[in-house]
Amino acid sequence: MTDLLLLPGDGIGPEVTAQARRVAQAVAPDLSIAEALFGGCSFDAHGTPLTDAVLGAAKSARAVLMGAVGGPQWADAPRDRRPEAGLLNLRAGMEVYANLRPALCFPALADASSLKRHLVEGLDLMIVRELTGGIYFGSPRFIEDLPGGGKRAVDTQVYTTGEIERVARVAFQLARGRRNLVHSAEKSNVMDSGLLWRQVVTDLHAREFPDVRLEHILADNAAMQIVRDPRQFDVLVTDNLFGDILSDAAAQLTGSLGMLPSAALGDAGRPGLYEPIHGSAPDIAGQGIANPLASILSLEMAFRWSLGRPEAADRILAAVVRALDAGARTRDLGGSLTTVQMGDAVLAAL
Ligand code: IPM
Ligand code: MG
Repeated sequence: MTDLLLLPGDGIGPEVTAQARRVAQAVAPDLSIAEALFGGCSFDAHGTPLTDAVLGAAKSARAVLMGAVGGPQWADAPRDRRPEAGLLNLRAGMEVYANLRPALCFPALADASSLKRHLVEGLDLMIVRELTGGIYFGSPRFIEDLPGGGKRAVDTQVYTTGEIERVARVAFQLARGRRNLVHSAEKSNVMDSGLLWRQVVTDLHAREFPDVRLEHILADNAAMQIVRDPRQFDVLVTDNLFGDILSDAAAQLTGSLGMLPSAALGDAGRPGLYEPIHGSAPDIAGQGIANPLASILSLEMAFRWSLGRPEAADRILAAVVRALDAGARTRDLGGSLTTVQMGDAVLAAL
């Protein structure tokens, strides 16, 4: 059985994932690691970004570490076979509905944030993004021609009680191990799905988590509060689309998008999907200058949440902190280390 399936993907994906692989082999030489094509490179080889064989391998591994998918060369691929569609199918196929996106400000990087140091120092925010529902998957969706010219496009936001409950439960459980505070963000002032979201979270809270503090917040206000005073948040749970947007904003607070990992989890015992939240960064792909820390920290989350080796996770996290404290910086962090040199720095710190 494969412990860790690597899906390096496109753009900078293979460059950063190669460094995570070195770290995995260093902390857990016994780990069985496999690698497969996914994304645009799979489309080029097989005509689809996600083959049935790779989805099957992902579902039977213990954890999947993805690099990044997509790039301008696939902009004209049929919509249902674009690399991004492969990613959505992988998330849905693995049923990883809870996406944990931590925004952690490492002390050594507080000055790289676009906010002032005193606002971000010590920031430890966990966004829990619903990942397999909402407007990303709702139907109908189409673009149609209008009789008088012009077109009409439709996307559908849809959520069920069960979908909201299971992701909110993950958020409440996480909060119990942290600062015991959950913010739930939606647009219940204008959207029916937001109204249901608020009701379901309120009911679940009363039934199962009365000991956790719950605050409801409108998603637009959440965006404003994230850039005004991010440390007021502990766990922030929200839907797929708002979570996509709010997690990019939160990421920037930490100094660089190149720093942030994520974990997508399903029901207990099922494999998790781990990915850096940065994309394929076609502008710097192939130059060997991408920051591998988001990938290495995604590996850290895999050891913690899927592979049952928290001590290996602790070692990786400590090594990243030590490397940063010692001044290791890739270009996005204002330094000049290459991707491989940053990998070397983490390995040396291990
Ligand atoms: C993300 C990305 C993806 C998303 C894209 C690449 C489909 O932006 O993981 O945040 O929108 O979910
Ligand atoms: Mg995104």
